Amino acid sequence: MWEDLKIVFNEDTQIFHLQNKNFSYIMGILENGHLGHFYLGNPIHGPLRQHMFRRDQNRALIPYLSEGSGKISLSIERQEFPSYGTTDFRDPAIDIQLSSGSRVIDFKYECHRIIEGKPKLGGLPSTWVSDLADGKTLEIDHYDRVACIRLTLTYTIFKDYPVIGRNAKVTNEGTQEVFIDRLMSMSIDLFDGDWQWLQLSGNWARERHVHITELRPGIQSIGSRCGASSAYENPFIILKRKHTTEAVGEALGISLVYSGNFLIQGEVNADNQTRIVGGIHPEGFRWKLKEHESFQAPEALIAYSNKGMGELSRVYHNLFRKNLIQKRWQDSPRPIVLNSWEAVYFDFDEEVILELAQSAKSLGIEVFILDDGWFGKRNNDKAGLGDWHVNREKLPNGIKGIAKKIEDMGLKFGLWIEPEMINKKSDLFNRHPEWLIGDPLRNQSHSRNQYVLDFSRREVVDGIYNQLIQILDHASVSFIKWDMNRNITEAFSRNLQADRQGEIFHRYILGVYDLYERLTSRYPHILFESCASGGGRVDPGLLYYAPQFWTSDNTDAVERIKIQYGTSMVYPLSSIGTHVSDIPNHQMLRNTTLKMRGDVAYFGTFGYELDVRKLSEIEREHVKKQISSSKKYRSLIQQGDFRRLISPFEGTGNEIAWMVTSTDKKQAIVGWYQILAKPNEGLFRLRLEGLHREKLYTVTGMDYPVSGSVLMNFGLLLFPSFNGSDLKNPITGDYQSRIWFIEELEE
Ligand code: GLA
Repeated sequence: MWEDLKIVFNEDTQIFHLQNKNFSYIMGILENGHLGHFYLGNPIHGPLRQHMFRRDQNRALIPYLSEGSGKISLSIERQEFPSYGTTDFRDPAIDIQLSSGSRVIDFKYECHRIIEGKPKLGGLPSTWVSDLADGKTLEIDHYDRVACIRLTLTYTIFKDYPVIGRNAKVTNEGTQEVFIDRLMSMSIDLFDGDWQWLQLSGNWARERHVHITELRPGIQSIGSRCGASSAYENPFIILKRKHTTEAVGEALGISLVYSGNFLIQGEVNADNQTRIVGGIHPEGFRWKLKEHESFQAPEALIAYSNKGMGELSRVYHNLFRKNLIQKRWQDSPRPIVLNSWEAVYFDFDEEVILELAQSAKSLGIEVFILDDGWFGKRNNDKAGLGDWHVNREKLPNGIKGIAKKIEDMGLKFGLWIEPEMINKKSDLFNRHPEWLIGDPLRNQSHSRNQYVLDFSRREVVDGIYNQLIQILDHASVSFIKWDMNRNITEAFSRNLQADRQGEIFHRYILGVYDLYERLTSRYPHILFESCASGGGRVDPGLLYYAPQFWTSDNTDAVERIKIQYGTSMVYPLSSIGTHVSDIPNHQMLRNTTLKMRGDVAYFGTFGYELDVRKLSEIEREHVKKQISSSKKYRSLIQQGDFRRLISPFEGTGNEIAWMVTSTDKKQAIVGWYQILAKPNEGLFRLRLEGLHREKLYTVTGMDYPVSGSVLMNFGLLLFPSFNGSDLKNPITGDYQSRIWFIEELEE
């Protein structure tokens, strides 16, 4: 009998088996007391023996722990949480320097606990289960008797997903202080090295493009050392087999619930085994652990699919929507916003804002967001950060006044903040120059004329919190865009002792989480959107507090297709902030059609970022239709099952398609995009997925029903672009798109 969810430990075989209907994760205690990794994948059944997964090997010229029979060499043993210093020369999951200077550590299994549900991680965001029956957790204690250090490895298996949530914690039970130089959240030794490695890499305005390479002997990694998860790499990888596609084949994902410096590393050894470690980046990290102190590593989420990368993504989408994002935002459709940034930048006063809001209201927009420029002496990006009080020259009635006027129009009001930052031209800097991160004896680099506040210090976080609540307690604010526009350089805290400077990056992120925790619990009704010059800090850690993020500062529809496509590899559409902006586009200077801009933005949270006062009558009518379509279909888009059909990263990248189906398969919405027109091409077909084979559907533009099997096997027929004669063809010209709404016919 298959059980829905179980964690079993077999005393005789010393094997742990974590299992649900779709997934097995198996490990065991090796003869030397270390934890070995045996298997992860489709559920397996029946009696298990360690011999099925590993064998003693008599190998030449490798170090063994002891002489004689039953000898073990960790250099060839697949492990769960390896350390360095004995027989394994690969990069470890943990590295601790003891007071003697020794780095040799030896964590042996001591005991374990099986817990219903999933305990919270102190001070860190993590996935959760609201019903104890939805998850089971295994905590395994290891102990190093010489150093008196406890290592607790935690594994949660969820009832509904092929996912293991892992974390690690170290506790100093001795009398000497020690230094943690590396504590990964997870490590896993996979049986072979025959994988491709997919990562989401990019830059400002080009975030999370899909890159795929072959794993090869040696080390391959992605990471961040700039203080944020970053636009350069995302804390997420997929390992897939060579022939794995969106729809078929094995894929394994690693996602870190963390917003700071991270490392995800793959190492293929001489035996063609793959070790993946993921967690806080060990470079620049050193944590002093005094007696009785513990250090908790963030959560890592390992997911598995044998039905392709599309299924793997949907597993993460569901997990994040149902077990990471705060409950109150789970099923609520995201409001349609107008953001003032690309509309007026810093150049506004109350009258301008009210005009914009009035115009937004008449189009059907639901929230007006006042972006940068409303506080301190913030008339450009050279001053004001740190002074979170309203600029009365621009807004004489304060935030309270403008919020009320906007609410009276029937809109909700949202506000931009950048709480982690400071300009030297600010009152806050005059009062607290020592609150900056930076070495006072050295140059402090700026970025966008701003400096980073030392959020590793409690009093700094308190100071910003106290300013913000003065506004938020008194004004009616429903939405906050929390921005973060530079990375950390010259990482030095004036508050930390010399031997604790290696803690600054992690303490900084803990400070960010602390402020998020305080603000989200004080104002549970406020929807938070995280932003870091667009998508410079998009990760599950922030999703826990802010259920959506501003995906990229690049609002050009063509570039957005790639960014949104890459982002969807792990993050759900309900979290992907998407706005229709003006043309020529402010980042790319490209002129795309209003239709295409809308058709791309539908597949996210949807909103506008342009001067709506300047729309022509024809554009206004078009925008009104877009808004009513978005209202009609946003629940489907944000809560449904997303499928990527044609990738912008493969082939010519000129055509792209994706779709969302409702979980009951009764409704679907399909988006198809063509960047440049092509001359005189034949017919084209787009094969759909995820529908009921035998049901009949209505499809936009077709006045006859079509079965799911036709739509999935033959596909939708498309006339390609300009063919020399048919100027009435709706997809003539560059930057074209089509949207189909598909609905099951009632029998
Ligand atoms: C960042 C954000 C933008 C906007 C500006 C304001 O660049 O990503 O959306 O809020 O800051 O300065």
